Amino acid sequence: MSAKIIDGKGLANTIKDEIREEVERIKERGGKIPHLAAVLVGENPASQSYVRNKVRSCEQCGFQSTLIRKPAIITQPQLLAVIDELNKDEEIDGFIVQLPLPDHIDEELVTLAIDPKKDVDGFHPVNFGRMALGLPSYLPATPNGILEMLKRYNIETSGKHCVVVGRSNIVGKPMSILLAGKGYPGNCTVTLTHSRTKDLKAETLRADIIIMALGKANFLTADMVKEGAVVIDVGINRVDDVTAKRGYRLKGDVDYDAVAAKASYITPVPGGVGPMTVASLLMNTLRASKKEVYG
Ligand code: GUN
Repeated sequence: MSAKIIDGKGLANTIKDEIREEVERIKERGGKIPHLAAVLVGENPASQSYVRNKVRSCEQCGFQSTLIRKPAIITQPQLLAVIDELNKDEEIDGFIVQLPLPDHIDEELVTLAIDPKKDVDGFHPVNFGRMALGLPSYLPATPNGILEMLKRYNIETSGKHCVVVGRSNIVGKPMSILLAGKGYPGNCTVTLTHSRTKDLKAETLRADIIIMALGKANFLTADMVKEGAVVIDVGINRVDDVTAKRGYRLKGDVDYDAVAAKASYITPVPGGVGPMTVASLLMNTLRASKKEVYG
């Protein structure tokens, strides 16, 4: 089998066009233009690039955006004060604090400080809990982007065996809950695997759908994949490459060419899950501005 490529970039552009049209209608009737703020601490190159992308995508959709940059030496109380201001600012519909944060800052405390009503990343325990219970919430951007891909490509999920590789709070864990949930896309039988899983290959070989969210370049090889499996690659790994303009190349967690020869569907890196994550954040921000989740 040769896999169909899931065009995350194209799909994200379609979603952004849909959002832009809705924003135009909101403008025409004099409604509130969605406004996203992003807090970027320090100079982490990947984080800078992600945040730039998020701000640019806001512009494409006609959103307002505010970028708040703070030096890596910011103290925890100072960062909490920034969050407090954003919580109170009625102009801002939703905001994110880009992770990872410097070591001296407690990410959990920061996440807890965000008003759940403005937590468009869906990282606050209130949103995570509501998501797990199947209540209205802001869904975390990457898992939601993956659900949207499965939906828009009409990929069957009911009764399928899904193996999630990686148990992070922002991808693996919520992804496993959402795919096991009721409805479509969902109703999967899910196995959540991680670094202590005994025989990972035996698990992935049984999977109809594999979600790779480990952060190790080319980790999933063809011998680990069943013929006809759907393979979703969340990894964005920078691999040194002297022939590349920037000195590195982006690689997913999947050994792409060999796995694509076996899979039924596959997402590329770049141009797969990454753009869908940004599209999901925009969808959440639009919902925040319409007060769809919390009234
Ligand atoms: N770091 C990696 N992914 C994300 C994300 O989706 N949101 C935030 N805030 N930080 C991240």
